[in-house]
Amino acid sequence: MEYNRRKFISFLGTASIGLVIPPFLSNCGNTTTPISTEALSNQRLKELKNVRIEHLLPSEQDDLLLTKGLEYHTIIKWGDRINDKDTFGFNNDFTCFIPLDSSNPKDGLLWVNHENIHPLFVSGFNAHSPQETKTIEQVDQEMYNVGGTIVRIREEEGQWKIVNNDPLNRRITAQTPIQLNWDTPIKGQTSVIGTLSNCSGGIKPWNTFLTCEENYNDFVGDTVYDGNNKASHKASRHGWEAFYAHPPEHYGWVVEVNPMTGQAQKHIALGRFAHECCTLYELEDKRIVAYTGDDKRNEHLYKFISSQPGSLKEGTLYVADTTNGKWLPLDWESQSVLKENFTNQTEVLIRAREAAKLIGATELNRPEDIEIDPVTGNIFISLTNNKDKNDFHGSILKIEEDNGAFDALTFTAVTYISGGEENGFSCPDNLAFDVAGNLWMTSDMSGSAMNKQDKPYSAFKNNSLFVIPRYGKDAGTVIRVASAPRDAEFTGPWFSPDGKTLFLSVQHPGEQTTDIQKPTSTWPFDTDTIPKPAVVAIQGDLIEKLNNLHKIEAV
Ligand code: FEO
Ligand code: CA
Ligand code: CA
Ligand code: CA
Repeated sequence: MEYNRRKFISFLGTASIGLVIPPFLSNCGNTTTPISTEALSNQRLKELKNVRIEHLLPSEQDDLLLTKGLEYHTIIKWGDRINDKDTFGFNNDFTCFIPLDSSNPKDGLLWVNHENIHPLFVSGFNAHSPQETKTIEQVDQEMYNVGGTIVRIREEEGQWKIVNNDPLNRRITAQTPIQLNWDTPIKGQTSVIGTLSNCSGGIKPWNTFLTCEENYNDFVGDTVYDGNNKASHKASRHGWEAFYAHPPEHYGWVVEVNPMTGQAQKHIALGRFAHECCTLYELEDKRIVAYTGDDKRNEHLYKFISSQPGSLKEGTLYVADTTNGKWLPLDWESQSVLKENFTNQTEVLIRAREAAKLIGATELNRPEDIEIDPVTGNIFISLTNNKDKNDFHGSILKIEEDNGAFDALTFTAVTYISGGEENGFSCPDNLAFDVAGNLWMTSDMSGSAMNKQDKPYSAFKNNSLFVIPRYGKDAGTVIRVASAPRDAEFTGPWFSPDGKTLFLSVQHPGEQTTDIQKPTSTWPFDTDTIPKPAVVAIQGDLIEKLNNLHKIEAV
């Protein structure tokens, strides 16, 4: 309740004095300012409670299907030009939109992560052909197609379009030099080459983007240690290290990008692992709390609390003991077991997974996206699945910090909802709250397991987008509202500042393709008939009703 009163500007109350556009929340991880329930008139609350959503049935169709009341158009797809030299990268994930001028929510910069590549489409390399050897030219093409894109977009007559050649359009790739935000060099360097495996992300209070390096080992391999702490290199799947011997220790970080300059930095203090996302909250004294999860089976959930205003360098990284509700400090100075096993704090951060296990962190079932409930302040974490522990369908974990304080060191953790046929979804991944505080969720069943009769996922068919309404008779139930093209997952849901557009990535359509002449998907149905990852805008009457937006316009 304290959280509610202290932080919330009433969207409807603001609208009633003539402003139509809700401002960004100053705390981050959420895209929109929510309606305060206390400020809702009985009439408007009644209307929100009466919204009826038609369930979309599971589908195997190779198309982007939407429930009644929603429509979509494609904003940008793989290979589209953003200027005379650059093109949009592959396998788009996290999206984040920032208006250039806060008074105009229909013109701004879209950041998009490019997580990984399908070699057959991107470089022409056939990983299924034992005779083929990857060339440096092919690796260069693959390196160009990961990282991120900044592109200016505008909405004109309901259609979002890219502004080609805008001076702010740019690519960040696996070949872009990036500074380390740390005083000690890592593997002898303070500036490293590139960012890759950019999965989900976040936004900082001053509107810079955070992009998270997840499965870096797919591209650069990893350093592994035996029982005697002897290091060796574990080879990558894509084999880039054959041409570029960039140390794996330069990847697996949270990266911040300034959209106006393209300058990037890696935040070492947040630890090194398969970062899915980074969700921030700014405390009243301007210190930052950052939640971030390690999306690997039996890995952990972390929280960084800064000691200085606005810093992602000075502060302490904690890891969650969800059994006892404690945040445990990954601090070399104060933890004797870390002193015994590592030489300094930099090594603790580089080998955060091992350090977390040494101090008793709880193993989780692949923590993916994290969002802060804008109404209650509770933290929601998708745990996508863990086959090692027979958790095939995953769940959403809810954390309530003690006394609602984001810098608390104790908390309560409960399962909010479990995946499975009973609740109609499996493998939760990305989360986003809309203006009214309804929770939107995407699923990520793996392409190799989807739509197979002998697998546990057959009933769910293609990956989908769901909404969990906050109000009315469907409150708390999971409703499928969109179905993805074949082999694809929806990623990167992000609401525009006016709450009317849901930006959404369609990642890896046709991922299971092994013969380019016979792609398993042809979405988005271009003339060249190969599948292309793309970012779409989802709009429509249903979003407007779920958020009471038509009433705002009428004021
Ligand atoms: Fe890139 Fe954990 O999803
Ligand atoms: Ca994900
Ligand atoms: Ca999210
Ligand atoms: Ca995933």
